[in-house]
This record gives sequence, C-alpha cells and structure tokens, in this order.
Amino acid sequence: MSPSSFVFDNGFFLLNDGSGQLARGSLRVEKGRIAKVARAIPKKKGEKRVDLKGKLVIPGFVHTHIHLCQTLFRNFADDLALLDWLKERIWPFEGAHNERSLYASARLGIAELLAGGSTTILDMGTVRHTDSIFEAAAEMGIRAFIGKCLMDREESPACLREGTKQALQENLKLFERWHGEANDRLRYASAPRFLLSCTEGLLRELKGLSSANEMIVHSHSSENRDEVKAVRKTYGCENIEAFHRLGLTGPRLVLAHCIHLSDSERRILAETFTRVSHCPSSNLKLGSGVCQVPDLKKLGISVSLGADGAPCNNNLNMFQEMRLASLLQKPAHGPGAMPARETFEMATIEGARALGIERDVGSIEIGKKADLVALDLSEASMAMELSEKNPEQAYSAVVYSGSPACVRQTWIDGRLVFDEGSYSGGKVREIVNQALSERKKLLSRLNRSLN
Ligand code: GUN
Ligand code: FE
Repeated sequence: MSPSSFVFDNGFFLLNDGSGQLARGSLRVEKGRIAKVARAIPKKKGEKRVDLKGKLVIPGFVHTHIHLCQTLFRNFADDLALLDWLKERIWPFEGAHNERSLYASARLGIAELLAGGSTTILDMGTVRHTDSIFEAAAEMGIRAFIGKCLMDREESPACLREGTKQALQENLKLFERWHGEANDRLRYASAPRFLLSCTEGLLRELKGLSSANEMIVHSHSSENRDEVKAVRKTYGCENIEAFHRLGLTGPRLVLAHCIHLSDSERRILAETFTRVSHCPSSNLKLGSGVCQVPDLKKLGISVSLGADGAPCNNNLNMFQEMRLASLLQKPAHGPGAMPARETFEMATIEGARALGIERDVGSIEIGKKADLVALDLSEASMAMELSEKNPEQAYSAVVYSGSPACVRQTWIDGRLVFDEGSYSGGKVREIVNQALSERKKLLSRLNRSLN
C-alpha cells in the first residue's frame, strides 16, 4: 500500500525533538513523511484534512524487546522464576507452534500494540515458522525488526534445538527474504536467545554477519541470578564479558534486561555503546530484580524500553512500561529520578537510536516518517486541557496517567493502521477468535506430545 498524504488540523504535537516544545496547529504528511508543522497550513485542492481538535499527537512508541510468539501464552505461565518459567512453560509452548498458531499469536500481539500507540518493535521470534510473524507484521502495518530465535546449544530443549549450520542458514535466508520489505518497514534482526541457548561458534558467526550487513543482534542478558550463575559456569565469565569476548558488543547489539551487572560489565556496555532494553513489568513479575537505569544512564549507556512477552508481563502496553520505569527508580534515587520527559524519550527516540532508525522515527520532525499516535486526553481518567506554555504537563499526562484508553488513532508511514478500535489489517473479532481457536489446537498438540 502506498504511503499517504494529508493534513492534521487543530492538534497539539509533542515534538520530542529535544526542544521540549508542545506545538499547536497543523501538520502535513506527504508520501508517508512529516512535511510541515505550523500554526496553520493553507488548504490545497483535493488534500485530505483530518480534524484533531483537542487531541495530542505523539511519536509512536518503540519497543526494543518483544516476543510476539508468546502472546497466545498470556496467563498460562504465571508466578515462576525465569529458568522454570522457560523450561516448564514457554519452551514447550513455543515448540508446539505451527505456522497458523504463530501467525495468530503475532496478529493478536500486534493488535494490542497498535491500540496502545506502539508503532515499532524489535521481536525475538521463535525457532521455526518466522515467515508467519513477518506476514502478520506486513499485513497489520507495524514497523518491525524480527528475528528467528537461535537455539543451537546441546542443553536447549529438544522441541526447539537446531544444528548450528541449519540455524545460521535459515537466519541468512530470512534476512535475504524480508530485510527492507514493505517500504523498509520490515527488517531482519538476528536473535540468539541468550548465552545459555547458543554455541560460541554460532555467536562468532553472527558477529561477521552483523558487521557485513549492519544487522541488529537481539538477545537477553543478566536477567536472573541463576542464569548469571549458569553463564559463569558455562563461559567462565559474566554475560557481558562473554558477549564482548565473542566480538558482539557494539551499537548494533540490543540486550534485554541487564539487571545483574558488575562494574566491569557496565564499563564494557558504556565503552562499546551496546544498547540495553529495560523491561520493568517483566522484571517485576518474574521476580528478576531491578535494572539500575539511572546508574546506566549516568555512564552514557543507551536504555530503551520493551514489554517483553505477554506471559511475563502480562500486557504489551508501553504506557505501563513508562509508568513503571519511572516509579521503580524513585524509592532508591529520589522522586526526581526518571522524570516524565526522560521516560517518554526512552519509550520513543532512545528506542529508535537503539535500532539505528533515529533519523526516521522517534520524534515529530520534518522529514521523519509519519509514525504518529493521536491521544484523547479528555478521558475521565485524565481530563487534561493542554497549553503550549506547559509542555512538561503533556509529558506527565502521557507517562503518569496515560493508557491505551486514550489512544484514538495510530498511523505508521502515514497509513492509518488503527482507528477507534478498528484495524486496517483485519477485523478485531476475527483476530481474537483466530487466536482462541489456534491456542486450543496448540494446547492439544502440546498435550499429545507430553503423553
Ligand atoms: N531468556 C531467554 N529466553 C527468554 C524469554 O523468552 N523471556 C525472557 N524474559 N527471558 C528469556
Ligand atoms: Fe524476553
């Protein structure tokens, strides 16, 4: 579908371009990109106008850590610590996916994300059927970096484990098939699950592949004390030291969590510009710990936000992640820690930087892609009247009291992908019913394989 051209009128625009400005008036989108922001834009014949009276337009949220394959497992894996949660629930569930259940899981997750104002994701995928996730993202219109989850280590569960060569071959094939598709809305990102699921040989190969193709590498690190202990036993060093030794640290490596870090690991993250994806809901629910975000940021480390997967959160909702990311730091660092604007930046422009697309998304600036979200702040839970003179209040409204209930429309590449409960990529009832039916079938496949 071709990107569209139109004008928003009568809106407020949280530019998030470093100026801290809340602009008022009109915004023109031309061929899917922001062409003009002004107090008023004169009418052109035949041009589509969208009245956003009283609405606040923000840049769409960027999640730098998501598992769309796990959406079907929401509320089926609660109150466990990471390694048991993976072994007892998540891995057997993922192993039972087929093309259709994975497609349904991805569509359900994307529906929730778009309705919550999220426009870009970095998804970890699962081992097989990765095309299904790309197809769902292509149809639903979300901007997505997606990878096949790589699990070639002997200790990986039999239902997911692959040979190193096979894993790398499919990794490359998927890159060639999908990277840059849909007007560059879809990209491939390699996804070695975590150090405990990958061989050193595979990780070394990824270094070359990533440098040659400027490809993002997406993994988990330092999430849980038992995981850290097991990494020490297997690799003879800490997580970040192992990634560094294998040549993977750098601005294209995005690591989810990074909770349990030594000073030396923090130094490596800072010196190599490695990216951290903070997932506060997941960290709390799995009892993993608290990521020391202010300390990481003080060292200049890039920290962005992600919801992680539905079974460890149990939502895919950036408003919740922002609120928690901010509140979580206040008891230890004081109420001034993680103010609203800084937290909003983590959820938008910092995510874009982590993915290397900050020239295209993450703020409202001329020339950037029109990945925009219209919020209605007249909801009963908010009842805000905005003023250009007080932009910080707009940041507060979004971060501290915002929720998906405020999201009216979501545009990606200037295309309206979510509009007051409807999706351009499918009917919501059909998406939910398909998810329910595929989950039933997945559970029966799983029971058959267990018996
Ligand atoms: N570490 C390895 N796999 C996973 C996963 O699926 N979720 C989380 N939160 N951590 C992991
Ligand atoms: Fe995760």
